[in-house]
Amino acid sequence: MSRALFSPFTIKDVTLKNRIVMSPMCMYSAVNRNGFLEDFHFTHYISRAAGQVGLIILEATAVTPQGRISDQDLGIWDDQHIEKLAKLNVQIKKYGAKTGIQLAHAGRKATVDGDIYAPSAIPFDENMKTPKEMTKEDIHLTINAFQDAAKRAKKAGFDIIEIHGAHGYLINEFLSPLTNTRKDEYGGSLEKRYRFLKEVIQAVREVWEGPLFVRVSANDYHPEGLTVTDYVQYAKWMKEDGVDLIDVSSGAVVPAKIDVYPGYQVRYAETIRNLAIIQTGAVGMITSGLQAEEILKNNRADLIFVGRELLRNPYWPYAAAKELNTEITPPVQYERGWKF
Ligand SMILES: Cc1cc2nc3c(=O)[nH]c(=O)nc-3n(C[C@H](O)[C@H](O)[C@H](O)COP(=O)(O)O)c2cc1C
Repeated sequence: MSRALFSPFTIKDVTLKNRIVMSPMCMYSAVNRNGFLEDFHFTHYISRAAGQVGLIILEATAVTPQGRISDQDLGIWDDQHIEKLAKLNVQIKKYGAKTGIQLAHAGRKATVDGDIYAPSAIPFDENMKTPKEMTKEDIHLTINAFQDAAKRAKKAGFDIIEIHGAHGYLINEFLSPLTNTRKDEYGGSLEKRYRFLKEVIQAVREVWEGPLFVRVSANDYHPEGLTVTDYVQYAKWMKEDGVDLIDVSSGAVVPAKIDVYPGYQVRYAETIRNLAIIQTGAVGMITSGLQAEEILKNNRADLIFVGRELLRNPYWPYAAAKELNTEITPPVQYERGWKF
């Protein structure tokens, strides 16, 4: 029986074999402290490709050294990063998965040595450093860093680029009024707070023709913060600016208590999909094939992003297929496992 979760998905010139996406997850394992992939990352990502995930999105990968959450984050700020990323791409693709990379800047949530940067000089909490308010020059350099990172991602052979605009990192800090109190053209109204992301998208689009995703936090969980209604408008602008899909997460802009339950963010993906008329990815405690099928069949999202369940079980797609009473083709070496 054909199941939506195992139906192909074509976006621009890229076809995913199914709707299962490995959600970007920082592993904080670049023990070289220079942003380079380690052996661990090869094992980690290739396992999920052998597990038949359709699209593997690499964890938040920093576009500048100061844009790292920790000094063990992956990086793509230097041409020297390309070689290993290219090797990883070749390996993952041998198992039929497509690849994406999440381009990121941690903003005020960076914990690296030296100055850290944000739209306004407001720390996340009392334990974090106070960031420097970015000058126009800092803003332009950072936009260029996203563009250079996109060029490198292309050279490394990624199929998809995702811009990290969620979880209270730099781009999210520009979008939210809780973290952006600027008085210039990058702060104030919704449209002005969107300007930084707009310029990042435009800069990436100048060098990247392939599918472009943006991850957003569709709720700040704060009375003066953003809600999904604001993100419907942002999504409309992103669509105009050439974004193909919004990956809809939530929270982490300011410290807040979040009520987490199965599929707790799906309604945001659904609202943005239906009101901004753009493809969306749903993420957040989606752990069963039936749950994923419900989301897709009811047109609530186009892709299913799976995070922690894929940490627990790199072969989760096989389990989901079994639950949905369907079969997927394993790598040829493993076929014997399906014959008695
Ligand atoms: C260890 C870990 C690292 C994460 N790192 C990132 C990241 O690099 N970028 C990002 O956008 N989200 C990150 N997330 C959030 C996940 O991508 C996902 O949105 C979240 O875990 C909810 O999905 P889940 O319930 O399927 O795990 C991370 C989550 C975990 C558990």
